[in-house]
Amino acid sequence: MQDLERIVADALAQFAQAADSAELERIKAGYLGREGVLTIQLKGLGKLPAEDRREVGARINAAKVAIETALNDRREGIERAQLEARLAEESIDVTLPGRGRERGGIHPVIRTWQRIEGIFRSIGFDVADGPEIETDWYNFTALNNPLNHPARSMQDTFYIEDKDANGLHLLLRTHTSPMQVRYARTHTPPIKVIAPGRTYRVDSDATHSPMFHQVEGLWIDEHISFADLKGVYTDFLRRFFETDALEVRFRPSYFPFTEPSAEIDMAFQTGPSQGRWLEISGSGQVHPQVIRNFGLDPERYVGFAFGSGLERLTMLRYGIDDLRLFFEGDLRFLRQFA
Ligand code: DAH
Repeated sequence: MQDLERIVADALAQFAQAADSAELERIKAGYLGREGVLTIQLKGLGKLPAEDRREVGARINAAKVAIETALNDRREGIERAQLEARLAEESIDVTLPGRGRERGGIHPVIRTWQRIEGIFRSIGFDVADGPEIETDWYNFTALNNPLNHPARSMQDTFYIEDKDANGLHLLLRTHTSPMQVRYARTHTPPIKVIAPGRTYRVDSDATHSPMFHQVEGLWIDEHISFADLKGVYTDFLRRFFETDALEVRFRPSYFPFTEPSAEIDMAFQTGPSQGRWLEISGSGQVHPQVIRNFGLDPERYVGFAFGSGLERLTMLRYGIDDLRLFFEGDLRFLRQFA
């Protein structure tokens, strides 16, 4: 029979050297497993003379308890060491400086958008929002601009190959004017609304961008005339540019959805561009056919509409001469407006 004290001493020494729990369990099997040294000793008890069994059995059991105790201690030791290693690895140095957060700013065109909303809300206009992917019908036909009408070539359109659920042609809206129809068909007069938003045309140079912003305005009631358009729009421009030293003129023009139609020009009466006429918006009295497409009776309802470019208004307000600056994302430019 192997010396039991020796066995226990060996086991303890091996346990102490086990690097991780897998190795520890493997060593344990060598002593306490089915083929383990101690297990074999216990099995050998039966062959001993009866008078020796009790004493030898007690000694083997004592050795087993000693090994099990050492095993449990070592298990705990390994677990504790692992936990400590993990804590050390994941520790946070609270004295390091933080990463910080950059403060964002509002884009100058969006600032214009917000200003316009504020001004028109203050004179009782609602603000509406609508889809940028539009049907051919809302973008053109309903605005008295039927298929094959030559005025469609005034706007170079991005068409979408898919059709909508009703089989209607889809496109990226070329102006915010379809919002006149969408809004008027879902509201009852008096209608007083602006609809700012993104618009798209196949166009790109220093003064044109394939994506740009417009604001549409519409006022429909029983007695709204061109004089109201002049008053509202002139007042808007003076408040937007924060000056009364500003002249406005209405120059005859053509749009399929208005009759009569006018281009709105403005000129500052002071400053570097003093006296120079700048085109700022399309406008007009809403065409009777468009009123009909609103679902209203043109004998009863009249009104005006306008559509203005937000980039143009922004460029004039801040003296910016290249439209592309708005879309390049250059922080040196954008920070000036934050
Ligand atoms: N939708 C026109 C365009 O983008 C602008 C316009 C002109 C809008 C006259 C109007 C209007 O509401 O009455 O060129």
